[in-house]
This record gives sequence, structure tokens and C-alpha cells, in this order.
Amino acid sequence: MNKGVMIVFDGSNGAGKTTVIKEIEKHLLSKGFDVVLTREPGGTAIGEKIRNVILDPSTPEMSFMTELMLFGAGRAQHLQEKILPALKAGKIVISDRFDAATFSFQHYARGIDLEIITTINDLALNGFSPDLNVILDLDPKEGLKRVQSRGEGLDRLEDQKLDFLLKARNGYLQQAKTQPNKFSVIDASQSKEQVLTQVISIIDDLLTTHLIDS
Ligand SMILES: Nc1ncnc2c1ncn2[C@@H]1O[C@H](COP(=O)(O)OP(=O)(O)OP(=O)(O)O)[C@@H](O)[C@H]1O
Ligand SMILES: [Mg+2]
Repeated sequence: MNKGVMIVFDGSNGAGKTTVIKEIEKHLLSKGFDVVLTREPGGTAIGEKIRNVILDPSTPEMSFMTELMLFGAGRAQHLQEKILPALKAGKIVISDRFDAATFSFQHYARGIDLEIITTINDLALNGFSPDLNVILDLDPKEGLKRVQSRGEGLDRLEDQKLDFLLKARNGYLQQAKTQPNKFSVIDASQSKEQVLTQVISIIDDLLTTHLIDS
């Protein structure tokens, strides 16, 4: 393979991203692929520091624009330091959230102008986009129940009103509608096994196409 592939798992809080990513990593390793797992916010040492600032529940006063630019700063570092080198080396990069989350949360839920989001994102990504976004779609109420059942406290972005989370969910669905070649939506209310079977089928298809093309 000349060039790697980047797959993003995204969607509502508690939809099962981390659960699915762990299983997909096993699946891809068993097929002999070189896999790099990463996440946003985070993914690099600098990005993880930015993550702590973004998610800190003790600073609810963070302005929307500050939040947006912190996401952008972390993403710029993430791309240059980790994602591009891994793709150049032919690896499969799997990210737990990426730019689609910024459109969903900062535009659709927070209401920041699309143009502003696009500008910050373009500064960070300079035309780059992942090969596929797998959206685990779940009613945020159900997602919140799952998050609470993990028994950890809520971070600043999990501790939001239901209306906000519903708008973010709709944001993912809108993006999937307008860019069907870059998004696959999976019904995450199904059992873990059902979700995993569907995700594996989508990823195997993507990799087959990629191998044929490269
Ligand atoms: N399909 C499923 N059905 C029922 N429970 C699930 C399913 N998938 C994951 N879970 C459980 O729901 C909880 C949340 O899952 P997980 O941590 O993978 O979600 P997440 O999308 O990574 O959440 P976050 O947005 O907080 O990172 C976990 O306890 C997990 O075991
Ligand atoms: Mg998770």
C-alpha cells in the first residue's frame, strides 16, 4: 500500500466509539495491517494538554470562540505530527473524533457561523480530509445513560443540556446527508455485536477499494 487510510469514529457521547475502535483495531491487526489509534481532542502530547483545558469541568466559562480555536490548534498539531507521517508510512489511522465533531458541536449545536468553523478548520487541515467518518448514531438520552453507567464523572462537553446534544446529533446526520461518500451512519442503538458486524463490513469494503485504487 503506497498511502495509508484514515478512518474516523464519531457521533453522540456514549454511542460506543471507544468500544468499537478497540474491536476494529483487533480486526485490522489480525489481517496484518499496521494500525495507529488516536483521538481528538488529543492525539499528541501538545494535543492532550489542550484536551485537558477544553474538557476541564471546573472552567464552564470558556467562550465558544476560545473552544473552537483550541480544537483548531490541537488539530493542526495532530495532523502534522501524527496523522500525515503515519499515512505516508502506509498505516491505517483510526481517530476517535475529528473535524466532523467541530461542525456538529461548534456549528450545529453552539451556533457559530459555518464560515468561521470552515476557516479555522482549513487553517488546521489545509485541504486534508479523512477517508471515511463512521457515525455511531444514538439518541443522546441513551448515550448519556451509557456514559453514566461507566461510573466516571462527566467532562465539560458531556455535561450539556439535552437540546444541545440533540442539535449535535442532527449535525452529524446533516453532514452525512450532504457528503455521503465520506460518511457512513450506523444505528448505535443495536447490540455491540450488530454494530461491530456492520462497521467491519464497511471498513473491509473501504480497504478493498483502497487497495484496488493504490
Ligand atoms: N451497542 C451497545 N449497546 C449497549 N451498550 C454499549 C454499546 N456500545 C457500547 N456500550 C457501552 O456503553 C458505554 C459507553 O461506550 P463507549 O465508552 O464505547 O462510548 P463512547 O462513544 O466512546 O463514549 P464517549 O463519547 O464518552 O467517549 C460503555 O459502558 C460500553 O460498554
Ligand atoms: Mg470514548
